[in-house]
Amino acid sequence: MKVVITGSGGLVGGCLARRFGRGHAVLAPRRAELDVTDAGVVRRFIEEARPQLVVNCAVLGVDECERDPAAASAVNTEAPRALAAAAASVGAEFLHFSTNYVFDGEAREPYGECDEPRPVNVYGQTKEAGERAALGANPRVYVVRTSWVFGAGKESFLSTAHRELAAGRRVRAIKDTRASVTYVEDLVSRVEEILRAGRHGLYHVVNEGVCTYEDFAREAARLAGLDEEEAARLIETVTESEVRRPARRPRYSPLRCTAAAELGLPPLRHWREALAAYVNGTMK
Ligand SMILES: NC(=O)c1ccc[n+]([C@@H]2O[C@H](COP(=O)([O-])OP(=O)(O)OC[C@H]3O[C@@H](n4cnc5c(N)ncnc54)[C@H](OP(=O)(O)O)[C@@H]3O)[C@@H](O)[C@H]2O)c1
Repeated sequence: MKVVITGSGGLVGGCLARRFGRGHAVLAPRRAELDVTDAGVVRRFIEEARPQLVVNCAVLGVDECERDPAAASAVNTEAPRALAAAAASVGAEFLHFSTNYVFDGEAREPYGECDEPRPVNVYGQTKEAGERAALGANPRVYVVRTSWVFGAGKESFLSTAHRELAAGRRVRAIKDTRASVTYVEDLVSRVEEILRAGRHGLYHVVNEGVCTYEDFAREAARLAGLDEEEAARLIETVTESEVRRPARRPRYSPLRCTAAAELGLPPLRHWREALAAYVNGTMK
């Protein structure tokens, strides 16, 4: 199968391009070659490449969206609309990633695919509009919502906490915001299974279990071989309001993976197990 993957310089796109490259003909243009906000360039690129599948991993981050709502709309809403339409014009399927941040975080239980999105920040608003734009522009669309992704290829808190702690460096961990976490390798495996099943629509894909950044950092410290005393010294816990990030985050936004279960797919392993696989693979 010929596959075009956008955003392959990022965490999810990078992993997808590596994994899909083993069995498919992958075209992974960087931004300089394919700026997804230019609908004309997008159309010409896809018409020339004539892939069977287009996967969109390009995104503008949470706080950048709050600072620049016009750019947020261009990357997170209009780009998936253009990519989905271009894919449709050559008969290709379109797979688009979205986020737990389409929800407001006021629920008491994990959100399922049928729950009503109610975003509380510009990122969530533009991502939710992007889901609708993609679904409306191509009859063969998969939207995969995921949450707090970690893995090789991104210098984020979740991806680097174990390394920082093992090196004796302090980390700041938020203690009052809860969500699902997702190991990027497990996300890509599940995406492959969803594509094989071939049922278009909306999917939640996350590892089992719910955590705060503090829980995550404590587990990362344990896996990195720190004792409780060392972990307590190196992990500085803070509240969301103390961090003062530009964009508000939903307080409680775990996802329930109902659609994948309906395909007969088992839940992904627990996040602690997934984190152990990541840490053991990166710290040998
Ligand atoms: N990471 C998470 O925790 C998380 C959580 C929930 C959902 N998701 C979703 O997963 C998907 C992938 O996220 P990620 O974490 O892998 O993102 P990422 O690591 O921030 O990478 C985003 C990529 O998008 C590219 N990009 C941005 N603007 C572009 C443009 N105008 N044209 C072409 N490329 C552009 C960036 O290119 P440059 O490198 O050139 O800037 C970068 O390679 C997104 O849909 C996101 O909403 C991620």
